[in-house]
Amino acid sequence: MANSRAPGQIAAWPAHSTLLRIIAMILLALILLVGIAVIVIWLAVKPRKLVYTIESGSIHNYNLTADHLNATFNFELRAYNPNSKVSIYYDRIETRVLYDDSTVAFNNVQPFYQPRRNVTHLGLNLVATNAELFPGTARNLRMERSTGEIEVEVRVKAKIRFKVGAIKSHRTLRLLCGPLVVHFSSSRNFERTFCDIDL
Ligand SMILES: *[C@@H]1O[C@H](CO)[C@@H](O)[C@H](O)[C@H]1NC(C)=O
Ligand SMILES: *[C@@H]1O[C@H](CO)[C@@H](O)[C@H](O)[C@H]1NC(C)=O
Ligand SMILES: *[C@@H]1O[C@H](CO)[C@@H](O)[C@H](O)[C@H]1NC(C)=O
Repeated sequence: MANSRAPGQIAAWPAHSTLLRIIAMILLALILLVGIAVIVIWLAVKPRKLVYTIESGSIHNYNLTADHLNATFNFELRAYNPNSKVSIYYDRIETRVLYDDSTVAFNNVQPFYQPRRNVTHLGLNLVATNAELFPGTARNLRMERSTGEIEVEVRVKAKIRFKVGAIKSHRTLRLLCGPLVVHFSSSRNFERTFCDIDL
């Protein structure tokens, strides 16, 4: 910048550009300090990924009549917080069961607090009450039902707060668990399924 100055320019310019340079250097130093602070906090907290799996699933009271579905879905959601410095408040938890991309049942789960390095098992109980299905969806469901198992998806949306020391940070957690193969016969084993996480 200084080089482009014309020879005849007034003497006030050098002082001005020195001031700008000092401001720029202070800003740069601040950015560096913030960067270092973030890295130090990151290293101190060592955040690790949360792990959610559906451990078991079953279906009861199934009745599909005239494109309307009654059914009770039970799933066991395992929530693993591997962090040694981060605990989690689950403030609002909404769960849904989808068949063929249509929601057939939903329910809310009691809010809870998950300590550091903790595994919590949540029982999800979702009841489809006279849920109206598209004719095509009902046809697919009827066909799948005859094979003794159906493929559904569980979605979870939760308002959560991460707590690190005295600091709390609000987030929305979304889980997509599926495809889940649910057997009508309880003697068939359910295959554990990992959930995709969107934070
Ligand atoms: C299913 O529901 C229909 C309508 O509510 C009823 O008529 C029928 O008896 C039910 N079937 C079973 C197996 O419960
Ligand atoms: C579902 O259950 C309700 C009562 O809870 C009943 O009125 C309805 O007919 C049932 N529908 C089917 C498809 O079974
Ligand atoms: C996880 O936290 C819950 C709630 O505080 C507690 O009841 C449970 O025993 C903990 N589980 C483990 C494995 O630490």
